[in-house]
Amino acid sequence: MKSFKVISVAVVLLFCVWACKKDQGQQKNVASGKGVPQLPEQPYKYDFNHSDTRVTLGRVLFYDKALSFNNSISCGSCHKQQLGFADNVQFHNGVYGNVLTRNTLSISGNSTKLFWDGRSTSLSDLVLRPLSSHNEMLQDLSSLPSKLSLIEYYDKLFLDAYGDSQVTLARIQTALADFCEVLLPNNSRFDIERSKTSLLATHFAGFSEEENKGFALFVGKAKCRICHLTADLGLYSPPSENIGLEMDYKDNGIGALTNDASLNGLFKTPNLKNIALTAPYMHDGRFKTLEDVIEHYNNNIVNHPNLSRMLSQLGETNSKEDAVPARLNLTVDEKKALVAFMKTFTDESFIRDPKFSNPF
Ligand code: HEC
Ligand code: HEC
Repeated sequence: MKSFKVISVAVVLLFCVWACKKDQGQQKNVASGKGVPQLPEQPYKYDFNHSDTRVTLGRVLFYDKALSFNNSISCGSCHKQQLGFADNVQFHNGVYGNVLTRNTLSISGNSTKLFWDGRSTSLSDLVLRPLSSHNEMLQDLSSLPSKLSLIEYYDKLFLDAYGDSQVTLARIQTALADFCEVLLPNNSRFDIERSKTSLLATHFAGFSEEENKGFALFVGKAKCRICHLTADLGLYSPPSENIGLEMDYKDNGIGALTNDASLNGLFKTPNLKNIALTAPYMHDGRFKTLEDVIEHYNNNIVNHPNLSRMLSQLGETNSKEDAVPARLNLTVDEKKALVAFMKTFTDESFIRDPKFSNPF
């Protein structure tokens, strides 16, 4: 009986601590004035294909915690501008602190295969999913428009974007997708050098010797380009492959999505834009550094039955049966050169550009 009392008191106390914390959080938001977005008089200019006022609305929605069920997280909580719209943690927490099982992907407005298992093909299809997803924002979509209608600053934002201030799910969806579509990190040193030469060039005048060495390896001996196209590094529908991370994948990716064992362990080839900023790596964030990634391709690929043909070498009989994982046998200098080359994909102006930043 006594222990029951102790437990009850403990439960009540825990509840109070939780409730107080919650209250403090809400008060702070109001008191610190963080509740209203700071926007320029004239909307920022984005690109010719998008309406600046609609992207502006999308930007506010992207960073607004009101889009989650308990006003605790926004899209921007997991997709951080300074980290190439990805994050530096292995797995993120959703609204109740429940841990997601996949590493946050960076957002790049031109990808046509979305999510690690490619289960979404367009940004406008995708953007509402994290909102209602149980693990992420848990927001009931049917009540979201009325929730946002009660927030004053949305009146003008919807009016400017759509001609009247009515809030609908379709409008929220289009504006969010528009903001994601203008997130194009196309101003990295790699992009700048490439724009000065031909698409086929594999040596850039503005690169250091080491970076050029990495470039040559990436497109040549190390075969990275076969999947991670350097010609555009993202403007394409990338291949989905099994890269032999382990024999028994905990998360079977496309195999789990389609219930087809011959696709177990296949994931989409991610975009390498801003890759130096988006550690940890792979769908499960298993590698902490780019050096770890290179070591995987160099020496640690396992012989999974679905291992990509591009990462295996045929044995004596030239049949699939005795194929073994390829080994690159890279020297220490070659590994360093590959890392140096991948660092040229960082777009410094993109990650600092105020027009993509958090307005709150
Ligand atoms: C709790 C963290 C979290 C929040 C909040 C979140 N995301 Fe994500 N996002 C992720 C993770 C993790 C993935 C990878 C999921 C997967 O592939 O299964 C992802 C993937 C994506 C992708 C796919 C990128 C690609 O190239 O495949 C887009 C686009 C995206 N999120 C946009 C959004 C938008 C828009 C919002 C707000 C409405 C949002 N995210 C909210 C964690 C989050
Ligand atoms: C057979 C196609 C293929 C080849 C060849 C290939 N990759 Fe990959 N790469 C992938 C796939 C698929 C993933 C995602 C795998 C996963 O998460 O399970 C990936 C993931 C990565 C990542 C992590 C990306 C992130 O956002 O977490 C990096 C970095 C990378 N590869 C670099 C390289 C380098 C460097 C090479 C050459 C040494 C290379 N890749 C060769 C298909 C390939």
